[in-house]
Order: sequence, then structure tokens, then C-alpha cells
Amino acid sequence: MALNIKKVLISDEIDEKCVKILRDNSIEAVKNTKLSKEELLVEIPKYDGLIVRSATKVTAEVINAGKNLKIIGRAGTGTDNIDDKAATKRGVVVMNTPAGNTLSAAEHTCCMIVCQARNIAEARATMREGKWDRKKFMGNELFGKTLAIIGLGRIGREVATRMQSFGMTTIGYDPIIPGSVSAEFNVEWLELKDIWPRADYITVHTPLIPQTKNLLNDEVFAACKKGVKIINCARGGIIDEAALIRALDSGQCSGAGLDVFVQEPPPADDPLRSHPLVTCTPHLGASTVEAQNRVAEEIAQQFVDARDGKQLFGA
Ligand code: NAD
Ligand code: MLT
Repeated sequence: MALNIKKVLISDEIDEKCVKILRDNSIEAVKNTKLSKEELLVEIPKYDGLIVRSATKVTAEVINAGKNLKIIGRAGTGTDNIDDKAATKRGVVVMNTPAGNTLSAAEHTCCMIVCQARNIAEARATMREGKWDRKKFMGNELFGKTLAIIGLGRIGREVATRMQSFGMTTIGYDPIIPGSVSAEFNVEWLELKDIWPRADYITVHTPLIPQTKNLLNDEVFAACKKGVKIINCARGGIIDEAALIRALDSGQCSGAGLDVFVQEPPPADDPLRSHPLVTCTPHLGASTVEAQNRVAEEIAQQFVDARDGKQLFGA
């Protein structure tokens, strides 16, 4: 079915290629990243399509105000900022670009693991203070350590193969990917209860859904090896942040690498921002030139294909 898409609003910072592809294909594209919530409600009825990254909250109110809206595109993976139930109710198609930023998110995760092993962020902070502290920052090799990967989808498996090149043993869990499949990329599939006592590092790569909310909690930290390190470059809330702080303070957890938070941005006084054992970045997993080029191109092309009645793809 071809969608009548003539005019599209791009309301988040998305690579210019998106605008170019839409215009080259005779779709009017307007980029306005400065709209307030109220202004968006006034503007949206003028458009057939809306393209966002994560800043714009596409609530039921926005969707219902979009009287001409036929399609919403997310230049990225997670569609958690789009009320997909409200969209379905109104027959509005929701699309994403699930693979465009996979490699960037996987590489960011690997950086976090390496930073954790060698205290890179903390050591760099002390250099900036004029110090030369070689004793404080004794690290550990990754070689021979066990990395647990929770969620063996696109990003999880890319992390696995990259960290195997450091000599890490990779174990993991996913309710949908069976052990026979994970064995193909050298991840030993285990039940969660068998993962916790074996892991030196745990990295999560699941969506945030009711089944994964607070998946890593006090009980799980207690079942882990003392000194386990935790990485979250997926979604804030998969790890119970209060439990993580307790585990870091008690020494049960010896470090965490966090790209995502329950509240983004986290409050200025959030203890995770300043905790000496936490390496954190402001949701940068997909923030590479390459990934942003890809997702911009992909979402624009998907809109053109939807207009031309080609097969729909994504969320
Ligand atoms: P994906 O859909 O390819 O893989 C997710 C996997 O999680 C699936 O295989 C699924 O079966 C599994 N899963 C679902 N419930 C689970 C559970 N209860 N326990 C274990 N596994 C479970 O997704 P992806 O592209 O690999 O993305 C993974 C996460 O990374 C998503 O949350 C996505 O939004 C996030 N992400 C973050 C960034 C960033 O900038 N930090 C960039 C891209 C993606
Ligand atoms: C995603 O879901 O794709 C990520 O959160 C990356 C992003 O767009 O910032």
C-alpha cells in the first residue's frame, strides 16, 4: 500500500542526508529542531510524516493532533519515545532503522569494557589535575576473563566477536536466541542464574521492556562474583541504579560503564555522574558520523519506499 507522503517534519538533529534524499524524491522536508512541545502540537497537522531521533517525545497527544500524519520514523533503534499504541490506534505507521547504528553501539560498549579494565577515565581525570598517579590505577587484563552478554541480538553478538579478540570467554542469555545459534558466534548460552556467578563483566543489550526492567538488581548483584563490572549501553532502567550504587559502594561491583540512564539527562547531583568507579557518557552509543549517516539515509529511503508502495521495514 502506497502512503500519500508529501510533507515531512524532521524535529530532531538528524544528518542533512535525510533532507536531501526526501527532497530529491519530491517530498517536501522541513527540519525544525527547536519546536517546544506546544509548538509541535500546532505544527504537526501540516505534515504527513514525522522523523525523530530520541529528543522529540511523540506522545498520544502529538499523534492525535497530527490529523494528516501517516508515518513516524525513528532514525535509530529504540522507539521508546514514540507512543506506538496511539499510532496503531490511528493507523499511523511507525518505522525505525534497527541496524544502522549497531556497529557504533557495539564499539562504544567495547570501549566501556576496556575503560573499565584499565581505569582510563579516572586516570585521565587525575592527569588533568596535574597528577601522575601510577599506583592508584592498577588494572586487569581482559585476556582470560569472562564476559556475560544479556541480549544476543544485533549489538550483543557484535560485542561478543570483538571482545573474543581480546581473549575473553563469552557467555550469554537471550530468551529467543537458542544455544545452537549463539554457539555460531562462540557465545555459550546459559540460564541467567548460571551466568551471574561466572561473569567478570556483564553487558546488557536488551530492549527496556517489563521483563528487563531492573533485570540487574540487589539479588543479582549478590549472586555475582565479588568485583564484577557492569556495562549498560542499551537502555536506562535495565539496571536498577540504586542497587548498582549499593553494589559499587560495598565493593561487590568494582566498576560500571554507563551510556544510558533512567532519567536522561540524569540530575546534576545524580551519584552515578560523580561516582569514582563509574565511567559514563551522555548516550553516545550511536553518535558517530558513520552511524548518523546510515540512519539518516535509511529512514529517508524508507519514507520514499513507503510513499512508492514498496515493502515497509522496521519497528
Ligand atoms: P535487538 O532487537 O537486535 O536485540 C535485543 C535482544 O534482546 C533480542 O535478541 C531479544 O530476544 C533480547 N531480549 C529480549 N528480552 C530479553 C530478556 N528478558 N533477557 C535477555 N535478552 C532479551 O536490539 P539491538 O539492536 O541489539 O539493541 C539492543 C539495545 O541497545 C536496545 O535497547 C536499543 O535501544 C539499544 N541501543 C542503544 C544505543 C545507544 O546509543 N546507546 C544505540 C543503539 C541501540
Ligand atoms: C537508539 O535506540 O538507536 C539509540 O538510543 C541511539 C540514538 O538514536 O541516540
